[in-house]
Amino acid sequence: MFEPIVIAPSILSADFMDLGRDVAVLEEGGAGLIHVDVMDGHFVPNLSMGVPVVKALKRRTRVPLDVHLMIDNPARELPWFIDAGADMLTVHAEVLYGDELASCVESIHEAGVRACVALKPRTAVEVLAPVIGMLDMVLVMSVEPGFSGQSYIAGSEQRVAAVAAMARQAGAAPLIQVDGGIGLQTAPLVAAAGADVLVCGNAVCAQDDPAAAMARIAAAADRAREAALRGCPEGGAR
Ligand code: DX5
Ligand code: ZN
Repeated sequence: MFEPIVIAPSILSADFMDLGRDVAVLEEGGAGLIHVDVMDGHFVPNLSMGVPVVKALKRRTRVPLDVHLMIDNPARELPWFIDAGADMLTVHAEVLYGDELASCVESIHEAGVRACVALKPRTAVEVLAPVIGMLDMVLVMSVEPGFSGQSYIAGSEQRVAAVAAMARQAGAAPLIQVDGGIGLQTAPLVAAAGADVLVCGNAVCAQDDPAAAMARIAAAADRAREAALRGCPEGGAR
């Protein structure tokens, strides 16, 4: 059955002086998730926002909060983000060794929150193998994490397809999210490869009409996804 693409606007590209207004526009425009990029200046060379912003957002929107933790020690900080009202928590595989990855996912689930594991562009997809069956979502980064407005790394859609294949083989069905440089040109590529959720920073939140931008990207992605499901290239007859 055809499931439409979900757009998760990243508020890293919003106007922080008018965050409430921007989030209301995104909610009104049909955002499926609000993507919150948390950066600690260690795991990535940038600092962004943290627990107080998640708390404030929770009071202002009914859209589920998708919190992307780009931090060195997610296990230690998970309880704060859970208390703050995160609905989905994403941890990076690169900072969780051995059993830590599975136990982090378990603690997220024990709190009744959905769990996602993110991979940087050069991290082997195989690191997901021990946890793929436990995950609500996998995040495939299509830029090096740290900044919005970067260009999509060409070929990232192949990593999306690899995660989709791995999940199928394992009999698992996590959502697949893609983050970094997603816009009108790149959304169809990743949607055709099996992405379900698209994070859009610059291409949505930095636009004059974020709702219209979101609708255009979602429509382009849905067309590509539908064509891929029918087994033919976009627009091709069969
Ligand atoms: C980058 C962040 C992204 C970023 C996306 O490290 O994880 O969520 O905000 O921004 P765009 O869509 O502009 O690449
Ligand atoms: Zn992100």
